[in-house]
Amino acid sequence: MLDLPKFFQRLNHIVERIMPSIDDRYIKKFPSSANAFKTAVEFFPSGITHQNRHAEPFPVYFNSGSGGVKFDLDDNTIIDFVMGNGSLLQGHAHPKIVEAISSQVARGTHLGGSTLFEIEWAKSVKNLVPWLEQVRFTNSGTESTYLALRCIRAFNGKSKILKFEEHFHGWHEYALPSQGNAGPAFVPQAIMDMVVVVKPDLGEVEKALKEHPDIGVVMLEPTGAHYACFPLQPKTFLKGLRDLTSQHNVVLMFDETITGFRISKGGAQIRYNVQPDISVFGKIVAGGMPGAAIAGRSDILEMMSFKGDPDWDNNRRIGQGGTFNGNPPTAIAGIVGLNMIANEPVNQVADAMAARLRTGLNSAFESTNIPGFAYGIASIVNPFFGKYPSKSTDLESPDLSYEEVRKNMTGVRKGYLTKAMLTHDVHVMGGQVFMVSSAHTEEQIDQTIEAFELSLRDLKSEGIL
Ligand SMILES: Cc1ncc(COP(=O)(O)O)c(C=O)c1O
Repeated sequence: MLDLPKFFQRLNHIVERIMPSIDDRYIKKFPSSANAFKTAVEFFPSGITHQNRHAEPFPVYFNSGSGGVKFDLDDNTIIDFVMGNGSLLQGHAHPKIVEAISSQVARGTHLGGSTLFEIEWAKSVKNLVPWLEQVRFTNSGTESTYLALRCIRAFNGKSKILKFEEHFHGWHEYALPSQGNAGPAFVPQAIMDMVVVVKPDLGEVEKALKEHPDIGVVMLEPTGAHYACFPLQPKTFLKGLRDLTSQHNVVLMFDETITGFRISKGGAQIRYNVQPDISVFGKIVAGGMPGAAIAGRSDILEMMSFKGDPDWDNNRRIGQGGTFNGNPPTAIAGIVGLNMIANEPVNQVADAMAARLRTGLNSAFESTNIPGFAYGIASIVNPFFGKYPSKSTDLESPDLSYEEVRKNMTGVRKGYLTKAMLTHDVHVMGGQVFMVSSAHTEEQIDQTIEAFELSLRDLKSEGIL
């Protein structure tokens, strides 16, 4: 008699021997990247210039992008959902932004003084979030969260910061405790003691504010850590946080580096109608160029102002340097990008493409019979390899605990999803998020859904899912 389980086991072994693995296909598809990496390791630690580009056995090297796709060294056309780490809401090399930057590059990239461009850029930011009183520009989200914390400390004289578990605010030392990437190694204990970390739970926040009257600021990613990979319930949580921080006379800071101008034309604060005291913007604020901003209450930003009092100006004022702050090409990219968001259906198109992708990924989970679902807000799409939580009522912010996220979204699963998808011509950011742009087409979204289904099957057949 035929022993069916044994038969299928044998068949499986044969298929495994014939079918190349995800790693084999990846190595075969990107030979020029493998070569480039051999040189890169001679120059850079781990061969990379951003920790998130770390990939085994090597990362893929790209040389250009256009709209919803980018091209690697082997001339593969890859549908891109990294989109400049979330900075390219209008896709790669949007003609309006390219033209604007190019026209200024020939007229000077740094004029060593103030320009009208920075004023126009600030107006474009305020146009989208009218309650912002003042703005200062920096070069990155990291610089902005650091500068904001310094201003807030000068404003209320309180030394401690409340941050949430896993929430990411860049790589300066106050942002390092529990940020989900490299740990706070070698950070002086005095700095570690200044950061109080809690779960995003209003009860926990209230308790911490009562226990530590020297907390001066509560900061957060307003849709949850890592672009909502650890989702929270923004509708209720943000309002509750606003009330609690006001009652305790503590500054509320939204880090909108990712959410700014993506999850609505005015970011999380406009979408949920909650006014923070200070906001940080990055990525999209500079139209895909390196630039960022802090903005909000003028009495807090005034900590950087000159007052004509030598003691204040020299000893107490918060100094902000930054060679490239508000440089003309960046400011121009910011103006054009933000004005497009204000006047054209950029968010609507990106959101519609994301909705199509979410529906398609959910069908792929169903047709492969692999437990999982896709969720997300606006043009952010998060895949999740686990059961849909019974308590949840919508696919925007499912009620997932930190434990469920950590158990199901392991590094191995995310790493192999990224690699499998790349072998099927799609780049997913960190194997955990699709940053959809207004340049993605329906055809590209449908190809992505097919690639996702194939990748799910790949991961299953290798025992990763
Ligand atoms: C929420 C958040 N804050 C801050 C940062 C740091 O920004 P940057 O990489 O520009 O320093 C990031 C970067 O991804 C981010 O997602």
